[in-house]
Amino acid sequence: MPSRIPLVMDVDTGTDDAVCIAAATLCGETIELIGIGAVCGNVEIEKTARNTLDLVDFLGCDAPVHVGAAKPLARPLATAVSHGTSGLGDVMLPAARRGFAEGGVTELIHKAARRHAGTLEILAVGPLTNIATALTERPELPSVIKRITFMGGALRGGNMTLASEFNLHCDPEAARIVFESGCALTMVGLDVTLKPELPRHVFDRIGAASGPQADVVARVLDFMMRRKDEFGADDPNLHDVIALAAIVKPSLFTFESYYVHLETGGEITRGMTIADFNNVSKRPPNALVAVDIDADGFWNWFVDLFGAER
Ligand code: RIB
Ligand code: CA
Repeated sequence: MPSRIPLVMDVDTGTDDAVCIAAATLCGETIELIGIGAVCGNVEIEKTARNTLDLVDFLGCDAPVHVGAAKPLARPLATAVSHGTSGLGDVMLPAARRGFAEGGVTELIHKAARRHAGTLEILAVGPLTNIATALTERPELPSVIKRITFMGGALRGGNMTLASEFNLHCDPEAARIVFESGCALTMVGLDVTLKPELPRHVFDRIGAASGPQADVVARVLDFMMRRKDEFGADDPNLHDVIALAAIVKPSLFTFESYYVHLETGGEITRGMTIADFNNVSKRPPNALVAVDIDADGFWNWFVDLFGAER
C-alpha cells in the first residue's frame, strides 16, 4: 500500500472550505492530516478559525487547528459575501469541546516539514497570507516541502474582478511570494473549479447519505442552493474540494506547466495570474496549472466519498 501523503491544510472556512475539510477527513487512506491553519478571507479570522475548529470537532477529527493571519500582508481585509456573515451560511455547528492549538501556522508548517522532510504537502484553499508568512519566516521551507497545491487564480477570467480570483485578489502580495518561492506549486484555479456544476442528483444523494460528513455537506449544499434563489449569489460551486481532488485523484485533471506571473498592481488586475504561454519571460515554469477536469468523474468520486448511492 503506498504511504499516505502528510498534509497540512490552510483554510478560510467558508462554505466550500467546509466541504473540502469534510472530504479530507474521509481520505484517511490517502492522506495523513497533520494539522489545519485558519486564515482570514471569506470572513474574519475569528470566524474562519472558529468555523474550522467547530467543524473538525463535529466530524470527530483530532487534527490541531492553528489560528493564522487576521489581515492580508499589505492591504485591508476585504471579505466575501456569498458565505453569509458567519462564513457557514446558516449552517449551525455545536461549539468544539477543545481549544485552538498552541503556536501559529508557521510553527505548524515548520514542525510538520521537519517531521516529514521532503514529503510534506500543503493544501491552501484561502488567501495565501499564512503560506507566504511561513515561507518568509522559514526560508528553508521550499527545500523540504514537496508541493503546495492551492485553490486560486485562473488562466482566463476572474470572480472578484474581470481578471482576478478571490483568494489571490484578497492578498496579492502573499500570492506573489508563493509564486516566486521556488516551491513546487499546483494551481487549481477557476478554469477547473467552475466547470463541475452541482447536479441535482448529487445534491439529493448527499442528502440521503448518513454520517457527520454527509450531514454537514448536505446542509452546506442546501444553503448554497438557497442563496442563489434568495439573494442571487453564486451558483453552488465547490472550488476548494476540487483542489483536494487534485491531490488525491490527479487522474481527473489535465495539467500544463507554465511560468505564471502574479500581478499585484491595478484595480482590476491585482491578484491576476498571467501565464507565459509564449515563453516571453524566458523563465522556467513555476506552476503546474490544472487546465481541465473530468467533471463526471469528479462527481462520482465526490458521491462515493460521502458514502452516497450512485
Ligand atoms: O474564488 C474561490 C475561493 O474564494 C474559494 O476558496 C472560496 O472559499 C473563497 O475563499
Ligand atoms: Ca476558501
